[in-house]
Amino acid sequence: MERASNNRTIYLTENERQLFFEDIDSVDKEINTLKTAEYYTKYDHSAVFCSDYFKFNKFLPSEIADLIIIDPPYNLSKQYSTTAFTKMSDYDYEQYMSNVITGCLRILKPNGTMYICGDWRTSFLQQKTIENIEKNGNCFLINRITWARDKGRGSKNNWKNNIEDILMVVKDKNNYTFNADAVKVKKTILAPYKDKDGNNKDWIADEDENYRMTYASNIWNDITIPFWSMPENTEHPTQKPEKLYAKLVLASSNENDLIYEPFCGTGTACVVAKKLCRKYLGVEKEQEYWMLAQKRLKMADDDKKIQGYENGIFRDKK
Ligand SMILES: C[S@@+](CC[C@H](N)C(=O)[O-])C[C@H]1O[C@@H](n2cnc3c(N)ncnc32)[C@H](O)[C@@H]1O
Repeated sequence: MERASNNRTIYLTENERQLFFEDIDSVDKEINTLKTAEYYTKYDHSAVFCSDYFKFNKFLPSEIADLIIIDPPYNLSKQYSTTAFTKMSDYDYEQYMSNVITGCLRILKPNGTMYICGDWRTSFLQQKTIENIEKNGNCFLINRITWARDKGRGSKNNWKNNIEDILMVVKDKNNYTFNADAVKVKKTILAPYKDKDGNNKDWIADEDENYRMTYASNIWNDITIPFWSMPENTEHPTQKPEKLYAKLVLASSNENDLIYEPFCGTGTACVVAKKLCRKYLGVEKEQEYWMLAQKRLKMADDDKKIQGYENGIFRDKK
């Protein structure tokens, strides 16, 4: 079928499918036999694997990741390529998340940060899970980011669900990376006050706008979900925007740090890590998404742009 000229959705050519497909098999075999030292030398910490998280995670050495971004299946029935994720009881989902989170905590460095994505109901279960782990002093929940994502047409019977939540967890409340200056937000100044000497009161006059750089809050409404005219868009049903993850990566890691993305889908955190000069490690079990992640990572060799983040500044919704 012909695509509209401004449809920039990433797709796989037959040739790419064949090439990536040959890789999957060899990488999967290696995971089963991988020894820690081989892993370090072979991939230098940057690779995305096509495997099951629960199997793969066991092969990783402890305390290697500076930042972990978990975007697991939410507790909703949803089709992910060849696999249907079926909504569980609250108890079962909490058990599932407990396995995911404890597995990831082992991989996280003592001064590392972990973010966990969910919708309004799922994140409540995730929070309960984290609070249980917190009782043993193994981690601390220190924030909840709410992203107003603006998707869908809404409902006649209920409020349209515009919320995604991201829980922020650290291992050590007194020692974790937070680069507040790297994620300041450019805000247009509507009332350009001056002090008694006529100087701008904490704002900058630019050619086309007056603005102030402010520290970011935990409510984010400057990010859209990827859609078909955006160059990062794929057919993945729940792909996260690069701009969203750029904020997490810039705030909670430094250059050359290792970002781990289990449940990586099309590899958004890995792609952002690469664009922002971090190392990455991802795992996704669906071949289709894994291949899309490979393609996006290849594209990032030549194009390091992140839509909505230009010259070190996060712009309003774009
Ligand atoms: C919410 S999506 C993540 C999307 C991703 N953030 C992106 O931007 O493309 C969750 C992903 O986890 C994958 N998944 C589910 N169970 C898995 C498992 N046990 N091991 C590895 N991946 C799994 C699904 O196939 C799906 O792509």
